[in-house]
Amino acid sequence: MSAAVREPQHEIEPLFHTRWSARAFTGEAIADATLYTLFEAARWAPSGGNGQPWRFVYIKRDHVDWPLFLGFLNERNRIWASRAAALVLLVSRQERETPEGPKPARSHSFDAGAAWSNFAHQAHLLGWGTRAMGGFDLARTRTALQIPEVYALEVFIAVGRVGDVEMLPEDLRALEKPNGRLPLDAIVSEGRFAFT
Ligand SMILES: Cc1cc2nc3c(=O)[nH]c(=O)nc-3n(C[C@H](O)[C@H](O)[C@H](O)COP(=O)(O)O)c2cc1C
Repeated sequence: MSAAVREPQHEIEPLFHTRWSARAFTGEAIADATLYTLFEAARWAPSGGNGQPWRFVYIKRDHVDWPLFLGFLNERNRIWASRAAALVLLVSRQERETPEGPKPARSHSFDAGAAWSNFAHQAHLLGWGTRAMGGFDLARTRTALQIPEVYALEVFIAVGRVGDVEMLPEDLRALEKPNGRLPLDAIVSEGRFAFT
């Protein structure tokens, strides 16, 4: 990994800056116990009113419907995601039940993002790579998997063992490296809104 772009400005747990979204998966299978450990980590994410709006639909590479799920992805994602061990669709429930009936769950996507973060970091701790994908056919996924409108489709997550960059087609190899972040002074301000 290129340390320079991934250098924290303050000391943090290495977990946060050593995780990155690789694409060069080996095709190695993932055990159910490992995959469920990732869902377990996601389950403990915080959420508005503890509403827990996240839902996960997964498929492993040896499943008969693997090609169907792969087919939901944009072509550019499909090329590398085809060597993942599992694909996970993350959706969030846009309404929560209350004694007065269903109410909009304002933080459903925000909460799902927290769950994704737990999932990705737990995977990293166990030596597995993850990459989220917004690039998929939402309408076709919703129809094929019969997902009711009350659920927002968030991302597909590819989970896999990360291998050599040579596994990727040439045009993707150059992209296969950790990226950096905005400096803290561009994203944090004290006492007033200081951003354009
Ligand atoms: C909501 C979301 C959608 C994304 N969609 C895609 C995608 O369709 N294809 C892809 O290759 N990467 C996708 N990514 C990965 C991001 O490009 C990546 O997380 C970002 O560049 C930061 O890099 P890092 O995860 O390696 O730190 C997505 C990430 C997120 C969080």
